[in-house]
Amino acid sequence: MKKQTIIVTGASSGIGKEIARHFLKNGDNVVINSTTAHKLEQVYQELGAGENLAMVAGNVKDKSTGERLLATAIERFGTADVLINNAGIFETKPFLEVDEAYLDRFLDTNLKGTYFTTQAILPQMLKQHDGVVINIGTPLVNHALGGVPITAQMASKGAIHALTIQLAAEFGKDNIRVNTVAPGTIRTPMHGDSADNSAGLHLLNRVGEVEEVAEMVYTVAKSDFITGAIINVDGGIAAGHNLN
Ligand SMILES: NC(=O)c1ccc[n+]([C@@H]2O[C@H](COP(=O)([O-])OP(=O)(O)OC[C@H]3O[C@@H](n4cnc5c(N)ncnc54)[C@H](OP(=O)(O)O)[C@@H]3O)[C@@H](O)[C@H]2O)c1
Repeated sequence: MKKQTIIVTGASSGIGKEIARHFLKNGDNVVINSTTAHKLEQVYQELGAGENLAMVAGNVKDKSTGERLLATAIERFGTADVLINNAGIFETKPFLEVDEAYLDRFLDTNLKGTYFTTQAILPQMLKQHDGVVINIGTPLVNHALGGVPITAQMASKGAIHALTIQLAAEFGKDNIRVNTVAPGTIRTPMHGDSADNSAGLHLLNRVGEVEEVAEMVYTVAKSDFITGAIINVDGGIAAGHNLN
């Protein structure tokens, strides 16, 4: 398979780190990002600090981070083939207690991060007449959950799903594919040690593992006829419920 350059945001932890590992293992070049430089440096070392790996610390809400990611990809590897907008935050807060600053944090990282990082990388993909953007969403935007106050999270993630299909429509003729992979509950540091409490939400009665998301992201990246798709890797959350 052709060696490609993959940019992964939020790659110092959880799903993003495993996505980076998966592409590296399969022979691609990878540029990793996250906000916290020392955490990113640790993961850079953990992933082998090899010639096929580069890193750029920075907040994805700033378009300049996307621009630095692109500059690094081009300088080190010559192309920018796949962008994975994975950086994201998750917290709970009752709707009536959410203030503007709190909502802005979610819109900044989840929505603006995806929006402006894509805006920074896309011109290179247009130049190449080839490129793939994969966003990380959630099936919960179409399958709401009582008892967990996540309106800020869902409003920002729902916007990512909408952005995905609109970008797919606007840039399909330029051979740029845009998709969202929507995981169920995945065992990552985002959930501390409480991930398994959500097992019963899934028809499979278990939570997912980071490798299961990375495999799908890899498949979508390498499959030339998938665009505008929201692909659930969710153990059946979106399909139905268990009556336990
Ligand atoms: N885990 C799940 O159950 C689940 C389910 C559905 C969707 N997702 C989505 O999957 C993605 C990854 O989640 P995860 O569970 O792997 O989370 P995680 O373990 O908490 O990792 C999040 C990563 O994003 C980075 N990050 C956060 N804000 C950032 C920003 N503004 N700019 C750049 N990097 C930033 C973090 O780095 P720093 O700490 O350095 O900022 C970290 O590397 C998120 O978009 C999340 O919403 C997760």
